[in-house]
Amino acid sequence: MEMNLESSASQEFSKRGNTSQMKSSASASSSTERKPYGNKLGKVMWVNGKLVASEEVTVHITAHSLHYGLAAFEGIRAYELKDKSIGIFRCQDHMQRFINSCHTGMLPLQFSLDELVDACKQAVKNAGLGACYLRPIGFLDAGPLGVYFDTEKHPFTVAVMTMDWGKYLGADAMAKGSRLKISSFTRHHPNISMTKAKYTGNYVNSVMAKLEARKMGFDEAILLDTEGYLAEGSGENLFVVKNNKIFTPTLSSVLEGVTRDTVCHIIEDMGLSLVERRITRDELYNADEAFLCGTAAEITPIAEVDMRKIGPGKPGKLTGEIQKRFFDIVTGNNPKYTSWITKV
Ligand SMILES: Cc1ncc(COP(=O)(O)O)c(C=O)c1O
Repeated sequence: MEMNLESSASQEFSKRGNTSQMKSSASASSSTERKPYGNKLGKVMWVNGKLVASEEVTVHITAHSLHYGLAAFEGIRAYELKDKSIGIFRCQDHMQRFINSCHTGMLPLQFSLDELVDACKQAVKNAGLGACYLRPIGFLDAGPLGVYFDTEKHPFTVAVMTMDWGKYLGADAMAKGSRLKISSFTRHHPNISMTKAKYTGNYVNSVMAKLEARKMGFDEAILLDTEGYLAEGSGENLFVVKNNKIFTPTLSSVLEGVTRDTVCHIIEDMGLSLVERRITRDELYNADEAFLCGTAAEITPIAEVDMRKIGPGKPGKLTGEIQKRFFDIVTGNNPKYTSWITKV
């Protein structure tokens, strides 16, 4: 199979080299379904302006981000649209958050928003996957050990990986509702971790919460903030429905989710009232409906929290309507929001 692995932008970007290993890209057509990767990867990844065979992209063990957890990343989905083409959902918004994360972390990002969006387009176009999940990541590459990083000595590598990813919390949770546990781990305090930044290091907290919940037999964890109010899931924002009003926690200690914002638009379109405020765990226990939302989880209904049924213990009517409208939007079936879709 012939493939043009050099992007048109590659000459321009090649001077911004990285030290991660990128061998010859000649064998890009080899299978990326090998077990070690878990999910089926796209055939190529975009790395600092070049398309490289996925199996040949490696990271050096001295990479600063690997040791100290300061790497910015994003999670984006590309959907099949009604005309069978592929569209990346809210790519600009995700990559703007990526730029903001880099700025907060003083990470020396060398690409503009347009270049980053183009990188995502190229990664999807050459993935050979169709609809897929994108994982852009920017990290401090190989260099001297030590917490301090020096942009002269630690090159900054930006990569966009693509992969096949089904329902994040499982098809069952999507159809019948998920079972959640309030975590014993507390969400970040906004002056301990930068809660608006999507950093790898922030996710140790999520991994702990997720492990605890899954090992106890639940699908997902809900974390409370440092004052004991509901914050978010380990990788999702949270919405609660009571008496036809919808509530969501304020943004003080949660990630400002792109899907959360999409849901806010949907709620407005439905003419429903949305209130952003502190919510207690017993308000969640006594909600009529509740759901999680995020790029990976999309709109996943909540059936149960801490062994208590939410409403009748199955996906609620409003949740179903929001879920339907969400999938219409991401697949280009709502003309009001087609500007959110970047066609590849
Ligand atoms: C902790 C956390 N909250 C919320 C979200 C939802 O964000 P988004 O809708 O932008 O994917 C995510 C997913 O990235 C997340 O990791």
